[in-house]
Amino acid sequence: MKIPKINQRDFLMILTGAGISAESGIKTFRDSDGLWENHRVEDVATPEGFKQNPKLVWKFYKERYFQSLEVNPNLGHEALVELENRFKDNFLLVTQNVDGLHTRAGSKRVIEMHGTLNTCFCTKCKKKYTMSEVDLEQEIPPCLACEKPLRPDIVWFGEMPYQMDEIYAALDKTTVFMTIGTSGNVYPAAYFIAQARQRGARTIGVNLAEPENSSYIDFFFQGKAGDILPKMVEEMIE
Ligand code: APR
Repeated sequence: MKIPKINQRDFLMILTGAGISAESGIKTFRDSDGLWENHRVEDVATPEGFKQNPKLVWKFYKERYFQSLEVNPNLGHEALVELENRFKDNFLLVTQNVDGLHTRAGSKRVIEMHGTLNTCFCTKCKKKYTMSEVDLEQEIPPCLACEKPLRPDIVWFGEMPYQMDEIYAALDKTTVFMTIGTSGNVYPAAYFIAQARQRGARTIGVNLAEPENSSYIDFFFQGKAGDILPKMVEEMIE
């Protein structure tokens, strides 16, 4: 399929999911051997799961945090930095990923809508800490201010994703929407593409397998983000 052209008058919104980090060595969620293989979603990714077994939940996210420190951004992340450098304020990258790899690659205009592995906050006083500030040797690290339990800064199922107002404001002016490496299963993120398209945006998809919301994609490129994106970025800018 021919790569659509974009130019400086466009506003570009990009939504990424676990697929863009796959080539960095982080497993996606919905693979048969995915990260949650040994854990039910309810146990490790809901407020109720945390209430029931905070030690297990902390163990799970500590492992993921340490893993994220060992991997590096890949060519897909880097291609999106290149796009941002060209589009500057006409660009917003919204990621569902919590691994911090976009920021480490150099992306600046990023919203981590599902939170981040790099921080945690107090369940009582809400004070926020970087993971390196707290005592991760403890099964449930305590708040340094009030000593109540900290929790990972992850948006769990049933919780409100971060910075939704900013995302909706950007969706209003989006003329080109790209969805990359996400199965289109989890809302509200899976619905952004429909909203952008309804307002007249052109939509582009880059994914290994056809996503659930593929009916909203005008230009679909099947394959690995790290293979497709560098070439696409070169060719799409007018
Ligand atoms: N390049 C592009 N796409 C890829 C690649 C790759 N190298 N590898 C895998 N994919 C695709 C898969 O085909 C799949 O469609 O990435 C998608 C990953 O889907 P999921 O594992 O469902 O991850 P994601 O869509 O990010 O999940 C959304 O669900 O579990 C919650 O909060 C969690 O943020 C997460 C959200």
